[in-house]
Amino acid sequence: MSANVDLYNSAYANYGSEVYQQVRLETYGQDFGQTSWVTTEESSEIPEMLRLDAHSSVLELGCGSGGYALHLARSVGCSITGVDVNAPGVRNANQLAASQGLEALARFAESDASKGLLFPEQAFDAVFANDVLCHLPERLTVLREMFRVLKPGGRMLFSDALVIGGMISHEEIATRSSIGYYVYSPPGENERLIAQVGFAQIRAIDTTDNASRIAKRWHQAREKRKNELVAVEGSRNFNGLQAFLSNVHRLTTERRLLRYFYLADKEHSSR
Ligand SMILES: C[S@@+](CC[C@H](N)C(=O)[O-])C[C@H]1O[C@@H](n2cnc3c(N)ncnc32)[C@H](O)[C@@H]1O
Repeated sequence: MSANVDLYNSAYANYGSEVYQQVRLETYGQDFGQTSWVTTEESSEIPEMLRLDAHSSVLELGCGSGGYALHLARSVGCSITGVDVNAPGVRNANQLAASQGLEALARFAESDASKGLLFPEQAFDAVFANDVLCHLPERLTVLREMFRVLKPGGRMLFSDALVIGGMISHEEIATRSSIGYYVYSPPGENERLIAQVGFAQIRAIDTTDNASRIAKRWHQAREKRKNELVAVEGSRNFNGLQAFLSNVHRLTTERRLLRYFYLADKEHSSR
């Protein structure tokens, strides 16, 4: 299903506008240019979950405008490469890297992560994707690619906000899918595929409550600024995005859709 409501183009094209910044600050508390369900608490835990330090080389899939990758480069000192299919997002990311003097540590490229990763084998110590894999077809192939580009001893992390937890109507699925291509996962399927590609030490962390909280705050922050946002997005898109956010809030609060983080290791003994 292709998008009939736009989230990413308007978020990335209007990245620097004050009203979008205010919405992000009110939704997340800290502005990394997010368009995801990642809480600021999760953002602060990810470096430790991935065991990052200043020597790490890191790949982020679906980096959007690069704000979080740049935060990691600045705060941890790691080198980081971000890829995203969205051209305005990658353009912002490269401009932000230049304006923050972080080009030596952070690089961004426009690329469709479902078409294979443009990197040699064993190039990275860590690979992560925040709320991105649900947009990509062929999960097994994507996971194989994440495994291939990781060094032995490396670690991967991704979140999936589309794990089925209960009964969902076709209208709810349509509204949840209104912003673009999505793949819904049955419970346990991510763990099975992660193991199938060779990862070990697989951990699944339930973060459904976080997604529910972010969806509510994001909806409220936008509703408060309705007139300014309608002037930029148009009322059809504004209403479509509000319906999308209400839908995420309802489905996650009722635990009919679940969000998990998956963390796993490529062991030294792996091929
Ligand atoms: C939910 S947003 C998350 C963005 C960012 N990780 C964050 O936490 O705010 C999903 C991102 O995946 C990107 N994306 C969607 N399909 C993609 C693809 N095929 N290849 C690379 N990126 C993709 C979108 O452009 C968007 O930036």
